[in-house]
Amino acid sequence: MTATEIRKAFLDFFASKGHLIVPSAPIVVKNDPTLMFTNAGMNQFKDIFLGEAPAKAPRVADTQRCLRVSGKHNDLEEVGIDTYHHTMFEMLGNWSFGDYFKKEAIAWSWELLTEVYKLPKDRLYVTYFEGDEKEGLEKDTETYELWKQYVDESHILPGNKKDNFWEMGETGPCGPCSEIHFDGRSEEERAAKSGAELVNADDPNVIEIWNNVFMQFNRLKDGSLQSLPAKHVDTGMGFERLVRVLQGKTSNYDTDIFQPMIQFIAEKSGKTYNSKALPSGEGLGGAADWANAVAMRVLADHIRAISFAIADGQLPASNKAGYVIRRILRRAVRYSYQTLGFKEPFFNQLVPLLAEQFKGVFDELWNQKDFVQKVILEEEVSFLRTLEIGISLLDKHIRYHNRIKNYLLEHKGKSWFEFGITNTSKYGQSNVNTVVMNLAHHITNRIESPLISFHFDILMRSLEDITDYSKAFNTLYDITTTLPGKIAFELYDTYGFPFDLTKLILKENGLDANEVSFNDYLQIQKNRSRAATAIDTGDWIVLKEDDNVEFTGYDETETVAHIIKYRKVTAKGKEQYQIVLDKTPFYAESGGQVGDKGELVFPDGEIIEVTDTKKENGLIVHFTDKLPTAPQDALTAIVDAQRRHSTEGNHSATHLLHAAMKQVLGTHVNQKGSLVNADYLRFDFSHFAKVTDEELAKIEAIVNEKIRENIALKEERSVVYAEAIQSGVTALFGEKYGEYVRVITFDDDFSKELCGGTHVKATGQIGYFKITAESAVAAGVRRIEAITGIAAENYIIEQTKLVQQVKELLKNPKDVAKSLESLLEENNRLKKEIEKSVLEKSSGLKDELAKKAQEINGVNFIAEKVALPNADAIKNLAYNLKDVVPNLFLVLAAELNGKPNITVMIADNLVKEKGLHAGNIVKELAKEVKGGGGGQPFYATAGGSDISGLDNALAKAKNFLQ
Ligand code: ALA
Repeated sequence: MTATEIRKAFLDFFASKGHLIVPSAPIVVKNDPTLMFTNAGMNQFKDIFLGEAPAKAPRVADTQRCLRVSGKHNDLEEVGIDTYHHTMFEMLGNWSFGDYFKKEAIAWSWELLTEVYKLPKDRLYVTYFEGDEKEGLEKDTETYELWKQYVDESHILPGNKKDNFWEMGETGPCGPCSEIHFDGRSEEERAAKSGAELVNADDPNVIEIWNNVFMQFNRLKDGSLQSLPAKHVDTGMGFERLVRVLQGKTSNYDTDIFQPMIQFIAEKSGKTYNSKALPSGEGLGGAADWANAVAMRVLADHIRAISFAIADGQLPASNKAGYVIRRILRRAVRYSYQTLGFKEPFFNQLVPLLAEQFKGVFDELWNQKDFVQKVILEEEVSFLRTLEIGISLLDKHIRYHNRIKNYLLEHKGKSWFEFGITNTSKYGQSNVNTVVMNLAHHITNRIESPLISFHFDILMRSLEDITDYSKAFNTLYDITTTLPGKIAFELYDTYGFPFDLTKLILKENGLDANEVSFNDYLQIQKNRSRAATAIDTGDWIVLKEDDNVEFTGYDETETVAHIIKYRKVTAKGKEQYQIVLDKTPFYAESGGQVGDKGELVFPDGEIIEVTDTKKENGLIVHFTDKLPTAPQDALTAIVDAQRRHSTEGNHSATHLLHAAMKQVLGTHVNQKGSLVNADYLRFDFSHFAKVTDEELAKIEAIVNEKIRENIALKEERSVVYAEAIQSGVTALFGEKYGEYVRVITFDDDFSKELCGGTHVKATGQIGYFKITAESAVAAGVRRIEAITGIAAENYIIEQTKLVQQVKELLKNPKDVAKSLESLLEENNRLKKEIEKSVLEKSSGLKDELAKKAQEINGVNFIAEKVALPNADAIKNLAYNLKDVVPNLFLVLAAELNGKPNITVMIADNLVKEKGLHAGNIVKELAKEVKGGGGGQPFYATAGGSDISGLDNALAKAKNFLQ
């Protein structure tokens, strides 16, 4: 079976067992503070398990794209090294939401594997949970008994909490699980050792393929387990592993999922892929084969994670989820550059192949392949540059270290004297310690290097306990041939250099790196970032067992409600409360629209201010700074309506803008980010060129026309997703939509979007739309900022005022622009005229002053006040005089913009022969005008604050000739 057939067989099988086939959720998780990326098929159903949302169907199945690169499940470092871990992988899953349980789950998994996929039964092993006393969890004998119907007892193995109790994260749904493993070893190997011994023992050929979790608990913050309202089934089968097993391969990378990609990489790099290469380097191609195989696997794997993360809306960035993606991307580029020898961007070229492969499975990528490729290309270009900078920085260190090393080697075994230390008594001969320390100082001083003080510090610290000379020498040698951990860390942290790359380059140059100290720095950084992001979230205090929160905010801004539950959250030392109501008009931040602010008003008059509203899974969470005194009382939740209305104007305008852009720029324009608040709107979209002024004007005109048409809002709250898509609505990539969606329409032929936000009742309420900025945010992503309503009105008022002011200054001409233009022209003309007349004046002055030269001791001395308008003119005059008067000693005094100015010019030969120095002289003279200055020996200038001193300065000048 091909991979495509295998995937289809799974979905068909569960459809035949009454399961609704649902689409994969995006790989990027929004609205869940405990998770950045989808790490299991069950993530999108977390709130159903917790009882916080109703299930769309009691049984569903799907293939979910997952990423295990951060948090509790992190496989990144294994990827490429082994043959069965991946960053992105597909998890095939079937779910029961309070419907069937262990019996059916086990029976069907066995039926699918052995009857549909026809896997040999004797190669399958199953596990069950052995219980855990500390947690108070019993042995799962039910599962054991169920398996006994199908599987020989020797193939049913108990497993501990680590392997057989599945948890999504530190908190959340969890339960005992039963894994199914496949023994893919050869007959001889199987005869020699039972597969039972190799289950969960990291054997690359005895691997887990399917996990059936029996969800029963919620792990709370305090570590305790709480029973879930109902029992559920959550299963996950690793698609890539399944395909490998069914296609009879020993590596996931040998299947038709990865081979096309690997062959492409092999062809472009001119290297071969040896699937059987070993880390020891044994075998045909030796160590190079192993390195190439790892690199090709890394590239073929990582392109999947990165492409889908970008397609689902997570661009590479310098923090949070974006940083995780950037790191994976850099890991791939490093292998591509260092091992496969691609010095120019190559990695991005894998995108089209991948998009083709997932066409019809995850179309998100196919629909955005150009954009995704462009983002990766830009990242690659910038990282390759960084790599080069890092390498040249490392080269510099290598050179210095080698100079010190060589110096030491040259002097090895020599006496102190020969070593270059002449005055040993100075160091006190009895104290070798002191001598060695001074020796270190001496060497670092002899070797000119910017690292001197740095090295010396390290040497001093390391040599403190050494009393033996040869040991001292060796230590000194070790230190100087070892790159300090701090530098290795800087390379890692700033230039993205993995430590092993630094080590490798050093090794090629006969040096080493200090790994212990590198790890220390790494740990310090980790601790720091952990402390910075530490958020302490308390468990919910439940007042009312009711998790069906009703949002009333589409219809009203005031609702009478009760608190269902609340909790305390401490972040960065600040305490806050999170409150969940049974009904609320407060809109929770999502789809770019900010969360509402407002008040919770209690019967006793107490008012609790709501500072923000956010979504967490299915819940609407109100943020407050304090708790009410009577939290169980009925309250009135009141949204700040003015703020909400301004926000709605901006949100509806964003829809009009999006539609107008598709008309003007093309249908490739897709939303990449959006912010809508009461002040303005910001819209990021995929587009490869700057939006021109004409295009912006066109877009603005269309939006304003639609506003004037005063189109009534058409809001459909519950449309079947597939039908909505059929009718041509704009849906966002990377957004998780349910079976039923809300469609917002402004004119059936103009704007139809899937959206959960709040909107104006008719477009006329937007008032006026004005674009204020257009800029670039990332590769292939542009940003438009705009304002509407009162903000736009104020903007127009300000602009009008400004034009009015300009008009008045120009004495109210008929045509302001023309009048300003002629003013500028006149200004230019006058400037030129002035320049010309100054030039004339200065050449007139030159002749006049030349005549005034006094000959004193063989020097032609001129000290005069001149009336020139600027420093350039004076400088010109001085240089011109120098050309015509030999042996010149010139002092010019002038008044520039009300300030004194002194210029001294001295003929070159006088500077040489008489040691005159214009800079020093001008400094002295400047004292007379309460100022200062300086310059070169032949030309210097000074300014000051006292004009009345200029005459004195001129008089003083003569003194320098004596
Ligand atoms: N949620 C289970 C897993 O990810 C199936 O392994």
